[in-house]
Amino acid sequence: MLILGFESSCDETGIALYDTEQGLLAHALHSQVTMHAEYGGVVPELASRDHIRRALPLTENVLQLANKTLQDIDGIAYTQGPGLSGALLVGISIAQSLAFALNIPTVAVHHLEGHLLAPLLEANPPKFPFVALLVSGGHTQLMRVTGIGDYELLGDTLDDAAGEAFDKTAKLLGLGYPGGPAVAQLARSGAPRFKLPRPLINSGDLNFSFSGLKTAVLTLVNNNAQNNKQNNSEKQLDPQTKADIAYEFQEAVTDILTLKCMTALRDTGLESLIVSGGVGANSRLRERLNAATEKRMCTVHYPRLEFCTDNGAMIAFAGAMRFKEIRSKEMQAKEICHPTPENYSFSVKARWDLAELQKP
Ligand code: KG4
Ligand code: ZN
Repeated sequence: MLILGFESSCDETGIALYDTEQGLLAHALHSQVTMHAEYGGVVPELASRDHIRRALPLTENVLQLANKTLQDIDGIAYTQGPGLSGALLVGISIAQSLAFALNIPTVAVHHLEGHLLAPLLEANPPKFPFVALLVSGGHTQLMRVTGIGDYELLGDTLDDAAGEAFDKTAKLLGLGYPGGPAVAQLARSGAPRFKLPRPLINSGDLNFSFSGLKTAVLTLVNNNAQNNKQNNSEKQLDPQTKADIAYEFQEAVTDILTLKCMTALRDTGLESLIVSGGVGANSRLRERLNAATEKRMCTVHYPRLEFCTDNGAMIAFAGAMRFKEIRSKEMQAKEICHPTPENYSFSVKARWDLAELQKP
């Protein structure tokens, strides 16, 4: 089966073609980061309009890259949620209209299921069951993954997500948006000098909390800011202090994430860990997890860097897995739709708990 995947839940338009026999054939992405940067965050209306502009040219692009035509496609997968309603509506409208015109089915994909399964696109993928750490801008969750759609939540953040903490720390340090890569870059020139708390590190459970860490960064920034020589009412951090704070912040987050992952492997008795979501691109986190899993004689799997953040390949893949399972069971599933003139209604799920997701 050849599946076309659409991702448009936030500020990236991702399109991909996945073949259930041959694997990923092509993918293309347009990031809106520079467009939103001047506002310091994503502007939903601008995001929706840009998805409209990019979706079809990118679709043509992937078809060309894979040397396929629209008529070769057997099904379309799209992100139904969670995400920005307007942005999701663009993806679903295009997916449903194309499917209607081509007389093929569509399948709704949960954005986080896409992230969760992204490491399976790589060579030597882990076998089910495994532990998954999902660390993105909106989520920090540990899960036991037993199969497609079979996810048990083991731990969650009680407040901010790890990516959100990176973004807020970046703002406090006067770095740009998105903050994660900027903090990680600055941390390279930092050194151990400050000590930040590691909230919930000894809680004994698998939950996380990052809002206290952000407040501790704010206190550190305020205590170390010097008077600006040009403008006495403004306070500034010297560049080395900034780098040292970024360093310690990254150490604190990666300490917590690494320890909780190892606890999850120990508690479940599982031997493979997968890491996905934007923060999974962090090289210090990878370094720490590589060392810790090696010590436990477990394996750790990541998506390639470009598939840590939002992309169409993960949606095409998750959709293809659902199509495949549903076909093999010869069943009718409610997430599969055959758009016809009599059956052309659709809706998005801006909020959608992964726990509500069902096995195909
Ligand atoms: O998965 P993602 O693209 O979007 C969501 O679905 O949330 O994750 C984006 C998050 C942002 O908070 C960004 O700052 C963070 O991932 N991020 C990083 C790195 N690259 C992206 N955080 C730390 N280190 C990185 N290298
Ligand atoms: Zn995402």
